[in-house]
Amino acid sequence: MTDEEEMVVTPWEVRGKVDYDRLIKEFGTQKISEELKQRIFKIAGEEHFLLSRDLVYSHRDLDWILDKYERGEKFVLYTGRGPSGPVHLGHLIPWRFTKWLQERFDTRLYFQMTNDEKFLFTPDLSIEEVHKYTYENTVDLLALGFEPENTYVIDDIKHIDLMYEIGIRVAKKVTFSTARAVYGFDNSMNIGGIWYTALQAVPAFLHSEIYGVKTPCLIPCAIDQDPYWRVARDVAEKLGYYKPASIQNKFVPGLAEGGKMSASDPNSAIFTIDTPKEARRKVMNAFTGGRTSAKEQRDLGGNPDICSVFLYYKFVFMPDDKDLAKIERKCRGGEILCGECKQILAGMVEEFLEKHQAAREEAKDRVDEFSAARLRDDLRR
Ligand code: TRP
Repeated sequence: MTDEEEMVVTPWEVRGKVDYDRLIKEFGTQKISEELKQRIFKIAGEEHFLLSRDLVYSHRDLDWILDKYERGEKFVLYTGRGPSGPVHLGHLIPWRFTKWLQERFDTRLYFQMTNDEKFLFTPDLSIEEVHKYTYENTVDLLALGFEPENTYVIDDIKHIDLMYEIGIRVAKKVTFSTARAVYGFDNSMNIGGIWYTALQAVPAFLHSEIYGVKTPCLIPCAIDQDPYWRVARDVAEKLGYYKPASIQNKFVPGLAEGGKMSASDPNSAIFTIDTPKEARRKVMNAFTGGRTSAKEQRDLGGNPDICSVFLYYKFVFMPDDKDLAKIERKCRGGEILCGECKQILAGMVEEFLEKHQAAREEAKDRVDEFSAARLRDDLRR
């Protein structure tokens, strides 16, 4: 992935340097204004650093969702994950944000594990592997401390019966020429992938369908998922549902140059199952905004704007603005060198991993408690 390449952002591929404002224009979403941020913080009763630091930056109909909420009409949350490999720290960021929304707005969350999507779109991924990662990734999700009362994890392959009827109703409204235009498919696309696109709309309508009450849905997601919501919004009213709203984040930073994190470059990402020692090694090799010599850095200061270690502080480990400002000041002033700064981050990462891995162990026996299979009973009632 190089920055000189032309920007390409689809649900399956991100290439080139991402221009986030341009994505808003091309996708036709809205920027989250300062006013809207303050409105969320006011209802939530507290601020959230991912919103105030603009990692969560774009939306569709978020103002409409808040209008409804303030008039007493509750919404449900819907998000998901394509279980194609182990989870890295970057994945946890939007999940934690979703959890915050869930707690602050006291709403139900539907979480879709799209093992079918990953099976269909990833040439060498087997059914066994997607099942394994569905389980492992669910464990990571639960390790963040979700409560089963309000959290329903949908395993696409296992729970297809819950979604099939809504799925075919969606699919009937979407032509192949729309799918080609929105998702960029060509004739080499397998037909499963084409069908799958209908299935990603389904959880947005599931609550309305099961309980027979038209219910607004808010989707926290990365901006690359927007094509799915364009189609979902297009068909929603025709099927008697509200158009799903969304709240969209930028891609989360990694340890490589340009702050990129990618599952295919294991050194650019810290996986939740890395040993603390392994994670420390990755942090110590991270790309920073340091100068070529210690003397130069003491004289001129470092550059946090391009530093992946700083991005980790900003989006993961330093929610408190005072802490972040302090490390930034020290860096720019040449008071702290990269080695020391990486040591601090490595300590935080190790501590986090130890806790998260213990929570993973406890979550392993609890996966069934969160299963969307419970919805079958509600559907029959
Ligand atoms: N397609 C997403 C992925 O590849 C998974 C997903 C399904 C999702 N439904 C979602 C992500 C809703 C965000 C919101 O990861």
